Amino acid sequence: MLEWKWWCVSGTNMASDPVDSLLDAVAGGKSIIVDRTVLHSAHMPDLVLHRDEEQKAVAQVLIPILKGSRPSNLLVYGKPGTGKTLVVRKVISQIQTRAADSKFPIHLVYSNAKDETTLGGLLVSLGKQLGMDQRRLPVTGLAIGEVFKRILEEVDGRGLNVVFVIDEIDHLAQLVGRTGKDILYQLTSANTRLDRGTLTIVGISNNLSFKENLDPRVISRLADEEAVFTTYTTEQIKKILEERVAAAFAPGAVEEPALNLCAALSGSEHGDARRAIDLLRIAGEIAERAGGGGGTDGQAVAVGHVREASKKMEEDKEMTVLQSYPLHEKLLILAIMRSEASSTGEVYSHYKSLCRDAAAGPLTQRRVTQMLSEIEMSGIVSGRVASRGVHGRTKKYRLTVSPQTVKKAFAEDLTLQGLL
Ligand SMILES: Nc1ncnc2c1ncn2[C@@H]1O[C@H](COP(=O)(O)OP(=O)(O)OP(=O)(O)O)[C@@H](O)[C@H]1O
Ligand SMILES: [Mg+2]
Repeated sequence: MLEWKWWCVSGTNMASDPVDSLLDAVAGGKSIIVDRTVLHSAHMPDLVLHRDEEQKAVAQVLIPILKGSRPSNLLVYGKPGTGKTLVVRKVISQIQTRAADSKFPIHLVYSNAKDETTLGGLLVSLGKQLGMDQRRLPVTGLAIGEVFKRILEEVDGRGLNVVFVIDEIDHLAQLVGRTGKDILYQLTSANTRLDRGTLTIVGISNNLSFKENLDPRVISRLADEEAVFTTYTTEQIKKILEERVAAAFAPGAVEEPALNLCAALSGSEHGDARRAIDLLRIAGEIAERAGGGGGTDGQAVAVGHVREASKKMEEDKEMTVLQSYPLHEKLLILAIMRSEASSTGEVYSHYKSLCRDAAAGPLTQRRVTQMLSEIEMSGIVSGRVASRGVHGRTKKYRLTVSPQTVKKAFAEDLTLQGLL
């Protein structure tokens, strides 16, 4: 109680209080980011740049629906952050607006396979967007086949013209593989079972290897038409960023060289607009924090903020990968950390001693060697083949991330706490 009183009456010190000066800066409207939502990945910009041809291609495939005939199925693919979701969502919302005056019912519905844990969940989400209620389509309790049958009955009964957009369809492909239920085949060939209405599938993916996991008949039906999105050039990314800067930041709050660096770091290697926008947002937050939230000239986003943001993004990515590993992979990473640049045999003996300390039964050397190659693929460790003279060759492993990052990532794992 006494403490509370002291805290409340210490008004004379207000100006130097860190929380107060932050709050003062916000209240004074001096924050350099004026509209944060524009920098959020789900934000739909008014202007879609450099994608006229792709927008036309997607629209052209879907246009027959406005005339009451069935569009072809469409597969949209390209690397991450190339505007696939943005373009498809924009086109379907524009067609839906036109469809409002149509004489026959048209529904274009969107769903993301990554947000669903089951095939049934995805179908229920699509069915709900057609207006099917809880009674017709309960969230649980129906077999997938039944859910699908009810959706078809709905389409048929009301003579609906439906486009199902399934974003990140590669995730659905994984579920299909696991359950053995070939829902994609049924979906892509649904029209043969409809007397009235139509059902078209638009699949979006940044991972083309999913094609290999599916029945070729499904692929050929799904990819009646294909739209390929290429990566953006550094110049194109710069223009996209300029639009965001104008909408999100206070005037003059981002220095030109900082913007160029954001574009270059995301453009040259990846051509990924999402990465560029994330980088800009994080750099903006760092600049804001460095300036205590103020927006005077000295605190504009500068090259140094972008470099720091890039480092942070890289570290965050590494942290996520590290934290996602099961216990034995983590122990193995610690073993490599302890035995810098060691052969498989040396790593294995460090691993066994860590297992003892963690009271975990060690896996066989054969299994551990296999795990090492898997971890190597993720880029967290690198292996270099070294000659051992007459004894042949061996692989030497070392960490590619800093030991600090590993320690930070594993800090919350109780089993490992004594070992870091
Ligand atoms: N041409 C563009 N003009 C303006 N903003 C864009 C453009 N292309 C992409 N963006 C923005 O970049 C981000 C990524 O775009 P989008 O989500 O469409 O990529 P994607 O191709 O679907 O990527 P993924 O395969 O990872 O899902 C979004 O915030 C989007 O608004
Ligand atoms: Mg997407």
